[in-house]
Amino acid sequence: MLIHIQLFGTGKKVSAGAIAGSVVAGVVAPVLGVLLFLFYRRRKAKQNALRLGNLATETSTILMQKVTSSATQADVASLAAGITVDKSVEFTYQELFNATEGFNITHKIGQGGFGAVYYAELVGEKAAIKKMDMQATQEFLAELKVLTHVHHLNLVRLIGYCTESSLFLVYEFVENGNLSQHLRGTDYEPLSWAERVRIALDSARGLEYIHEHTVPVYIHRDIKSANILIDKNTRAKVADFGLTKLTEVGGASLQTRVVGTFGYMPPEYVRYGDISRKVDVYAFGVVLYELISGKDAIVRPTDGSASGSRGLVYLFEEALTALDPKEGLQKLIDPKLGDDYPVDAILMMTHLANACTEEDPKLRPTMRSVVVALMTLSSMSEFWDMKNPGLVNLMSGR
Ligand SMILES: Nc1ncnc2c1ncn2[C@@H]1O[C@H](COP(=O)(O)OP(=O)(O)OP(=O)(O)O)[C@@H](O)[C@H]1O
Ligand SMILES: [Mg+2]
Repeated sequence: MLIHIQLFGTGKKVSAGAIAGSVVAGVVAPVLGVLLFLFYRRRKAKQNALRLGNLATETSTILMQKVTSSATQADVASLAAGITVDKSVEFTYQELFNATEGFNITHKIGQGGFGAVYYAELVGEKAAIKKMDMQATQEFLAELKVLTHVHHLNLVRLIGYCTESSLFLVYEFVENGNLSQHLRGTDYEPLSWAERVRIALDSARGLEYIHEHTVPVYIHRDIKSANILIDKNTRAKVADFGLTKLTEVGGASLQTRVVGTFGYMPPEYVRYGDISRKVDVYAFGVVLYELISGKDAIVRPTDGSASGSRGLVYLFEEALTALDPKEGLQKLIDPKLGDDYPVDAILMMTHLANACTEEDPKLRPTMRSVVVALMTLSSMSEFWDMKNPGLVNLMSGR
């Protein structure tokens, strides 16, 4: 989706002073800005060269973070954090054992397809330890080392790992559960519309970062609401990227094994094992539908029968192509939102999700375009929130 911004002249007369002021503002300031930028970039490049020099001895692949003109605030923040040389990415089994009181059941916070997850306190910091049901290959270990250097506000950080007795991954702890629990669980207050849009934008930014700003680029391949974690400020972070084996776009290492979750996988991936960034874009579209409807990616029949399950993509497409799309859509909107949402924004998000889940991957937008669209949606939705501080917002003290 492309968004055009047009600026129109006002046609007002301007004074000589104003012209001089404009010249200063229009010419001198940008030149100064460029000089400052060049100076800063040279200094940064020197610092990075030093750091990267160290890093190159540790890993065979060097992770470069590209600064592009479209770098988001979050990108800038993560660049400011810099690429640091970690000395303690490798933990001993004893350290992890002590941090979880011997992997005590009271520390267990979840169970996924790869293994169990435990809450831990490691050197005074909260962490989540994933005990993987597998051993690490040398190749995977090299990838893990690289992954510990990928830092972004909207990505769950891999702090380190341990290979004694089994493979353990140590992540930063994200305190407020995952998006699936927020949408369908009973432990959390319903998410307001503005919070849903912000969660969508946060996760889109995380995904855009691994698609566009890391070398090599990553394809997540398991984007779903359970892999979007929510922090204490209801900001979202994408979890588990890089776990489904790093894939270089256009490289020779394309995998044929299908890894992913039903309801989120696009047709070309399920049928032919075709992997591209558009696999993630499709899954992200399904997450957008979840945010609108509060429903699971696969909607099971209420009578418990084995047949009659429908994907969210199918349900929304059915509504959008009906004689009266608005009526069909209305039925799909999460009842937990009450009347507390801007209809235009819901329609916009529905169309965005529809574009993300196009059957033909080439017709799906890039994550960069998705971020731009969601930024517009976000400003629309925050304005709505200020005008309509609904019950949900008042209750959460916002
Ligand atoms: N870094 C973390 N901080 C807090 N909770 C986490 C963290 N990582 C995972 N969890 C929680 O642990 C549970 C299990 O996560 P896990 O990633 O193993 O499974 P999953 O996401 O459900 O499925 P998959 O194995 O496909 O990723 C989830 O409920 C998730 O919310
Ligand atoms: Mg997960």
